[in-house]
Parts: sequence; structure tokens; C-alpha cells
Amino acid sequence: MPKLPAPPLPKSLQPRPKRPGENGNGAVRPVEAAQEAGITVVDWIDERTSLSGGIRWLLFRKVPKGINWFYTLGSATMFAFLNQAVTGVFLAMFYRPDAAGGAYESVRYITDDAFLGQLVRAMHKWGASVMIILIFLHMARVFFFGAYKYPRELTWIIGVVLLILTLAMGFTGYLLPFDQRSYWATIVGVNINGTGPFIGPYLSDFLRAGPEFGATTLSRFYAIHMMLIPGLIAALIGAHLYLITKLGISAPPWIKAQEDPGLRESQV
Ligand code: HEM
Repeated sequence: MPKLPAPPLPKSLQPRPKRPGENGNGAVRPVEAAQEAGITVVDWIDERTSLSGGIRWLLFRKVPKGINWFYTLGSATMFAFLNQAVTGVFLAMFYRPDAAGGAYESVRYITDDAFLGQLVRAMHKWGASVMIILIFLHMARVFFFGAYKYPRELTWIIGVVLLILTLAMGFTGYLLPFDQRSYWATIVGVNINGTGPFIGPYLSDFLRAGPEFGATTLSRFYAIHMMLIPGLIAALIGAHLYLITKLGISAPPWIKAQEDPGLRESQV
């Protein structure tokens, strides 16, 4: 005789459907639960921070037609700065700002003995020149394309401060190997600073950490070089990028001329 199907269990006795990430004992494992629900780590972070909106605002924006490779010089300068920051951290792991021979010896150790030390030091040293060349090229692009004009004056002013700070990085970094060349070059540089009007003498005293060039001068230069100025540069690059994103990139002058029939012939 065929077996009759069992009558359905009452609702309270029916097995509950498995929740995402639930194992055999009824315990829910959060990582598996998220995987089953298709939630990635990025989604998890974004739900708590809403950072993706800001990143999309910064990266996914319209740019004017006709822009070219010259518009990449600002980003190239930024990457040169990042290179300086990363290599600088590794150099700081070995460098000692000790004027009684320790600084010179630590730089010798980095160059001759530390693993990949010569490479990292060279990247930092050559990277400094690369950054200065790039910043001038970027500034020239902005100048010749007239990109400093309304409404981008503040972007330009922040740029000028960035230029001064970048040059100051070169100046303060030059002393750190503490060899004959860096010592005498810095004395000359500090003396030149001292001839500046009004703030010149105060600036020299600040740089020397007193009226005489002494052991604390090296510590002063090191602190300025690896903390004060990089912090300022990072903050100002943030402000520079904020303004660039908010105002949009300026169109090249020849496109502006085509699109604005109101321009006089001389302006075109
Ligand atoms: C650490 C140094 C600097 C960094 C990292 C930097 C970065 C950038 C970036 C990524 C852009 C976007 C467009 C482009 O690349 O051309 C830009 C635009 C701009 N920068 Fe810089 N910059 C620096 C220094 C300077 C300097 C020295 C000036 C001028 C004195 C300047 C003035 C401007 C202006 C006015 C714009 C807007 C250009 C436009 O809308 O077409 N920047 N900068």
C-alpha cells in the first residue's frame, strides 16, 4: 500500500530558514554573513564613514575639452612629494641629528651598509631636484595658460606658499649629511636670510636656534625638515586640491577663445 505523506508540522515546530552566515549550531559568523549577503570590506567601511561620496567628488569630475599633458604636472609634483615622504620615513629610521660626528656617520651607514640604503637615499636626493623642477614647470603651465585668473587666485596664492615651502625643504635638507659642503653652504644660506628686511635677522636666529651656528642648529633643521614643513605642505596640498575640485580645471586659452565670442581680438 502506498505510504501517505506525513501531515505538515505546526508552524512553531517547523525548522527556521538559515540566516546568512549561520552555522549548524545556530551561531552567526559575521564575516561569512557579510560574504553571503554580498557585502565587501569597502561597503562596510563606506556604510560607517560615507567616504565614497567625497572620493567620487574628488576623482570623478568633468574636465574641459582640449586639456593635454601639461595638465598632469601638478599631479606629477604631488607624486614627487609622496616619494619624498615615503623615502624620508625610511631615511629617518637610520639618521641621527648628532652634530658631533653621528649625523655624518649615520648617512655613511645608510649609503654603504644599510639594505637598499643607497637606493633610498638616491631616490630622496634626486627626488628633491625632480620635485623642484616639476613645481616650476607646473607653475609655468598655470601662468602661461592664464589659469591663475578669477576665480583661481587663491589656488595660485596657496601654490606660491607651496613653492616657498618646497624650496625651504631643499635648504633644510642640505645640512643634514653634515659634511663640509652642507655645513658651509648652510652658513652662507643662513647669512643671506639674515640680510632680508625686517624679519631677516629673526629668521636667521630661528634657523640657527640662537645667535651662533651650533649643535642645536642641526636638530632645528632636522625638526623643520621632517616635521614642520612636510606637515604644512601636506595640509596646503589638501587645500589646493579642494579648490581645484571645487572650481574645476580651467580650459586651455585657445578653447576659451573659441567658446567666448565676446573676447577682443587682442585677448584671443
Ligand atoms: C607641492 C606643490 C604643488 C602641487 C602638489 C600642486 C598640485 C596641483 C594639481 C594636482 C593641480 C590640478 C591641475 C594640474 O595638475 O595642472 C593643480 C592646479 C593648480 N595649481 Fe598647483 N600644485 C603645486 C604647486 C603650485 C604652485 C607653485 C602654483 C603657483 C604659484 C600652483 C597653482 C595652481 C593653480 C592656479 C591651479 C589651477 C589650474 C587650473 O585650474 O587650470 N600650484 N595644482
